[in-house]
Amino acid sequence: MRKQIVAGNWKMNNDSKQTSDLLEALLAKKPAETTTKIVVAPTFVNLQAAVQQTAGSNVIVAAQNMHQAESGAYTGEVAVGMLKSINVNTVILGHSERRAYFGETNSLLAEKVNTALKHNLTIIFCFGEELADRQSGNHFNVVASQLKEGLFHISENQWSNIVLAYEPVWAIGTGETASPEQAQEMHAFIRTLLKENISESVANATSILYGGSVKPANANEIFSKPDVDGGLIGGAALQADDFIAIVNAI
Ligand code: G3P
Repeated sequence: MRKQIVAGNWKMNNDSKQTSDLLEALLAKKPAETTTKIVVAPTFVNLQAAVQQTAGSNVIVAAQNMHQAESGAYTGEVAVGMLKSINVNTVILGHSERRAYFGETNSLLAEKVNTALKHNLTIIFCFGEELADRQSGNHFNVVASQLKEGLFHISENQWSNIVLAYEPVWAIGTGETASPEQAQEMHAFIRTLLKENISESVANATSILYGGSVKPANANEIFSKPDVDGGLIGGAALQADDFIAIVNAI
């Protein structure tokens, strides 16, 4: 049984008090008993407080990024050891906004993946095509390249640290959600890619999340698809009621 996961990528939102208030609401509203893994990803400055506030709950705190080097002259960056020192053991890598705004390439992400796995972090690895790729029918090739060049170099046993997050760029923050059929088609393609390039057991065990305008109104239909194992949520994660409604939709 693959892990069912709902992760909230808060992006560059919420100061210290807003973080505390949102977490307080999430902790109060989340289902007491659930097999769904609930993840929240505040900004770096709020991570340690978030870890402390969620201690003892089943909410996992993740970082939104990390540098590929373990230390050094990289002004403004955050290293894996710093995350682990505050008990953050999950990291989002390869988000489309990192790729677009900060020039993160597949080869750079492969380095980040290696550093994160060296320290046994769980990685939520993001990828997805641009609108032009889909309109030209090239979306499967784009996704295959992102995975093969950024992730497929790892060993089979390292896949237990990997969660995949398919986020079509044209659906992120736009309200243009991929249809459940589009999501299922791509997730099934990804699972076949895993089976053909890694192993059938990895293909069957790896959670593949969908991200891109998931809302309470569409979550259940998307999550009901056989190869969708949950979601990576942006805007809706900033509202406790909406995020918990999405958690309950699995
Ligand atoms: O990482 C999740 C995010 O990119 C999706 O954003 O606002 O479309 O749910 P949103």
